[in-house]
Amino acid sequence: MQTSARLKCIDARCGLEYPIKTASVHCKNGHFLDVLYDDAPDDSLKETFLHRRDHGSSIFDESGVWRFRELINFAQIDTEDADACARTLVSLDGAEGRQSRPYHMRRAAEFAGMNPEGLFLQPEGYNPSGSFKDNGMVTAATHARMLGVTKIVCASTGNTSASAGMFAANEGIECDVYIPEGMIAPGKLSQAYQFGAQIIHVDGNFDDALKRSLDAAKTGGAYTVNSINPFRIEGQKTIPFRALEYLGWEAPDWIVYPGGALGNTSSCGKALSELYEWGWIKKIPRIAVINAEGASTLSDMYNGAGLRWNAGRPDMGLIEEHYAKMDAEGRLPDTRATAIKIGRPANMIKALRALELSNGCVITVSDSEMLDAMSVVGLNGFDCEMASGASLAGIKKLVGDGVISPDDTVVGILTGRQKDPTLPVEYHENPANAFARPPRS
Ligand code: F0G
Repeated sequence: MQTSARLKCIDARCGLEYPIKTASVHCKNGHFLDVLYDDAPDDSLKETFLHRRDHGSSIFDESGVWRFRELINFAQIDTEDADACARTLVSLDGAEGRQSRPYHMRRAAEFAGMNPEGLFLQPEGYNPSGSFKDNGMVTAATHARMLGVTKIVCASTGNTSASAGMFAANEGIECDVYIPEGMIAPGKLSQAYQFGAQIIHVDGNFDDALKRSLDAAKTGGAYTVNSINPFRIEGQKTIPFRALEYLGWEAPDWIVYPGGALGNTSSCGKALSELYEWGWIKKIPRIAVINAEGASTLSDMYNGAGLRWNAGRPDMGLIEEHYAKMDAEGRLPDTRATAIKIGRPANMIKALRALELSNGCVITVSDSEMLDAMSVVGLNGFDCEMASGASLAGIKKLVGDGVISPDDTVVGILTGRQKDPTLPVEYHENPANAFARPPRS
């Protein structure tokens, strides 16, 4: 069991370390931090996790996040001590991550041109606030509780704020959310209100909102829960944990995510790197990140500019140049998939590390490809939002390009539920759409 944990700067030239009870999401030189564990957990825990799932007697065993608590034990508690769990770990009655695992979806496999046995999609929208964010928000909220924080703060394209608001209400603490005004799905906005969060409208996009919220956190002493928070990343590792557990810890060939701020990509890379190092998996799946065509910074940097992790010394000049050019040209992210309408992905550096580790790839898909894929997911009896359609649209494209083989084993993450009810209505009312079923009278 992990009994000792610390924070460490990810930059190879810096490498500063901090105790776990540190509120800052950066080292003093402005680099991102990782949670590091000193002990390798024994793989006999695989049995424990399965047993907890099937015979869960506590909310922490039922939780799809805390079931794996030995692998994310930054709180450094005795994980079998029920009182210590209840005192320390935040949980929404065990609901976070409980409903999500990989599913076969025959219509999706047909659409992607894959062998149906090899394609799995994992609906993270079936979390209590309706998106994958709950996996990481529950761990960030736990760290906030460890620090005795009374206010959390985030910027959001909608799902982060819904999740943060939900856990803040559950903990009885304040939550400020910075929202790009008019750019988030109505269902997401209404959740933030419903959970009693304080909305702060930002006249700009997500990148502007993130900057405002980080400035506010610095001056107002609030605790940031965006995915640059390393404890968010720890909880989101349970997304690949659940996928791998379902596959008997046999690594698939690919894990596929939509790419926005790149917290998912970063957490998947960290999870795979740790599991491989501990000998829990024998190979590292390739990570594919799917950007929207109109919000393609990672693709532009990775494929266009050749930016790489470079052993913890990425060429920051390339990124600065790219952003300066975007600003000079007035180029703003542009896609109807508002969840991933992001021009400056905050976790780009950790994502580069994940791509390096996993021999990953980055591609882009169009809005209409995402909408088709979203609609095809629906034909399997599952619900997802437009940005989640990027995973399936990306798999289809990679199969078409011969990068993914039709017989590979692939897990695509469906990141969130539909929270913009107008989108499917609009899609199906237009007979020109490939999978539309227009109404009749
Ligand atoms: N899919 C959905 C449904 C999302 O809400 C997000 C991000 C992503 C994908 C991208 O994930 O950032 O890990 O690459 N939404 C954030 C928010 C930015 O504020 O809700 P990522």
